[in-house]
Amino acid sequence: MSRDQKFFDMYTLVIGVIGAVALAFVVLAMKMSDLTQGIYTRDASEYQAAVAERIKPVGEVYLPGEEHASSGPTVDTPDAPEPVATVMTGPQVYNAACSACHGAGIGGAPVLGDPAQWVERLAQGEDMLKQHALQGFSGSTGFMPPKGGRVDLSDAEVTDAVEFMLSKLQ
Ligand code: HEC
Repeated sequence: MSRDQKFFDMYTLVIGVIGAVALAFVVLAMKMSDLTQGIYTRDASEYQAAVAERIKPVGEVYLPGEEHASSGPTVDTPDAPEPVATVMTGPQVYNAACSACHGAGIGGAPVLGDPAQWVERLAQGEDMLKQHALQGFSGSTGFMPPKGGRVDLSDAEVTDAVEFMLSKLQ
């Protein structure tokens, strides 16, 4: 019995010492990494490059013949095409902005090329139809959004589309 007790005491002691040493190693490792991490980071090439980039002089001098891909002032190439505001024709506008509703009569829209659905509307006169297309219109069959919802279209483009739609009735 006393041998068992002795073994148990010894065992507990050894386990305790090993545990304490392990804990000491962990704490030491944490302390060391705290102290040295910064130095290793500062030595890293990416970090060095970033610092060099930040503290580099504003201007640089290049001798004739030297080339450098810098973000210096760019020279406008004369043949670069000017961005032109493209104007769409009536049919193009119709296809892009009107056909969604007027193609199949969605939401009560009068169908393209179906005279029966246009007779009464035509009676208002073409100008009124154009005005309704531009400003939107809420009649007896549904709601027509201003410019068919495409407010980016010019007035002329929309009225051209109206003319195209009316031309399909003859
Ligand atoms: C979101 C669906 C929708 C789109 C897109 C749309 N319309 Fe309409 N449009 C309607 C509806 C619905 C009516 C019928 C409104 C009513 O009479 O109640 C209508 C009616 C019209 C009328 C007749 C107005 C009147 O006075 O009777 C014209 C002209 C017209 N649209 C032109 C256009 C043109 C041009 C475009 C494209 C630029 C276009 N619409 C796009 C739904 C649409």
